[in-house]
Amino acid sequence: MKITKTGILPRWAVGYLAALLLLAVSNGYSVWKLHQLGTTTIPNLSTDIRIIDLQRRMVDSILSQLRYEQKYLLLRDPGLYSQFVEANDEFHRLLGTVELIANSPAKKNSLEKIETSVASYESVVNEQANRLKEGRRYNFWSYQTEKTEASDNILKELKGLEQHARDDVERKMSMATEAGRSAPRIAFAALVVSLLSALSMAFLITRSITRPLTKLVNKTKEISRGVFKSNLRIDSPPEIAELSRSFNSMCDKLSEVDTMKNDFLSMISHELRTPLTTIREGASLLLEKVAGEITQKQERLLTILVDETNRLIVMVNSILDLSKMEAGMMSYSFEEADIGPLIDKAVTEITPLLEAKKIRLEKEFAGDLGARKIDEARILQAVRNLIANAAKFTHEGGRITVSARASMGSLEISIRDTGPGIPPERLSTIFEKFSGSDHKRGTGLGLAIVKHIIDVHGGRVWVESEVERGSTFTFVLPS
Ligand SMILES: Nc1ncnc2c1ncn2[C@@H]1O[C@H](COP(=O)(O)OP(=O)(O)OP(=O)(O)O)[C@@H](O)[C@H]1O
Ligand SMILES: [Mg+2]
Repeated sequence: MKITKTGILPRWAVGYLAALLLLAVSNGYSVWKLHQLGTTTIPNLSTDIRIIDLQRRMVDSILSQLRYEQKYLLLRDPGLYSQFVEANDEFHRLLGTVELIANSPAKKNSLEKIETSVASYESVVNEQANRLKEGRRYNFWSYQTEKTEASDNILKELKGLEQHARDDVERKMSMATEAGRSAPRIAFAALVVSLLSALSMAFLITRSITRPLTKLVNKTKEISRGVFKSNLRIDSPPEIAELSRSFNSMCDKLSEVDTMKNDFLSMISHELRTPLTTIREGASLLLEKVAGEITQKQERLLTILVDETNRLIVMVNSILDLSKMEAGMMSYSFEEADIGPLIDKAVTEITPLLEAKKIRLEKEFAGDLGARKIDEARILQAVRNLIANAAKFTHEGGRITVSARASMGSLEISIRDTGPGIPPERLSTIFEKFSGSDHKRGTGLGLAIVKHIIDVHGGRVWVESEVERGSTFTFVLPS
């Protein structure tokens, strides 16, 4: 199964199962270790302890046999002989039990040697007892030496058996201690490893889902800024890949509609410009009484006609300018020029409106601004748009400050007003066309045109504003 083809739900399911499996394995390992301790080491330990106990009883039994057999040789009492036989039977029973539970080759080897020594001890004792019963002669000291040798061998091998059992007890005890000590360590390490693995798995799975989601969010922001590029590439998970394909086709459609709209607007504007200019010129001529005297009422109507036609011409020109700028078809001519006179010109143009609204305009030019390579007509258009906005939106009796200063080779122009300000949520999109314009007071193209012009000059334009306190539009032209 290819991970890129795996859906969100199976990803989570596989992740959680793998984490659970890891936890189960680590717990299982600790439990298995403890189980091993309980089923192998501890029972083995009790067998060895039992062997030590049986060995002690076998030593007692051998010593009893020696005692009864010595007394019988001295006193010739048959009762003593039967006690010897009883102790001997007891010894064989104990030996049989130990043989059944002996749990190491060394112990089994000792038991074989014990058996051989016991057999030779018994044959010497029986031979001597038979000779005694039958009243035959025999060499007491030679029997005594053989018996002592055999019984010493038995005791020596019993000692060896005990030593083997003790060694095993010691070894298993230290194994159990070591296992007891290492069990919590192993359990803790396994827990840490499985927790870390589960966390990294959760992180990787979550990231494999959130990454494409972040791409989608960024694309949405791009679309909201009017960029309709269908370049979203998301291959996985399949659900989001499908969504990204829908996004791309939506972008294609939006960009198609956007181009259609721009083409339509520029076509209509172009077609409107000539008749509008003709209407304005005709109305102006009528106002100038070229065609004869006019009444006061006709003069008022003609003035409205000229003003409205002018407004329409400005709007049509803005639409055409922006269309050309967006299509990269606007031609610019850069020449050395001073910016001061351009600002003065824009201010002079707006003076009638300023006077009508009783707005005070102040100029703050800091030192020599110097000439620089600019497209005069376009920079004038930008300054005009910014000052016109300040004049249009500032309340009656307000103040506009136009400041210019050269710093570190670049030129900074600011237009500050005491107008209504711009809400923070609109600031990031204010330079986009039709961004929240109320259509009664303008087309909503002025700032978009300003941005295009400043960008073409390699500069930067921005706004700082506080609601009810005013706005400051600033642009910087590089040296
Ligand atoms: N100095 C300002 N003070 C307050 N709001 C402003 C200011 N300048 C611009 N705005 C806000 O930004 C919007 C966009 O300005 P822009 O100049 O692009 O369009 P417009 O002035 O509405 O129309 P146009 O300039 O095309 O005639 C305006 O409608 C207004 O809401
Ligand atoms: Mg404007």
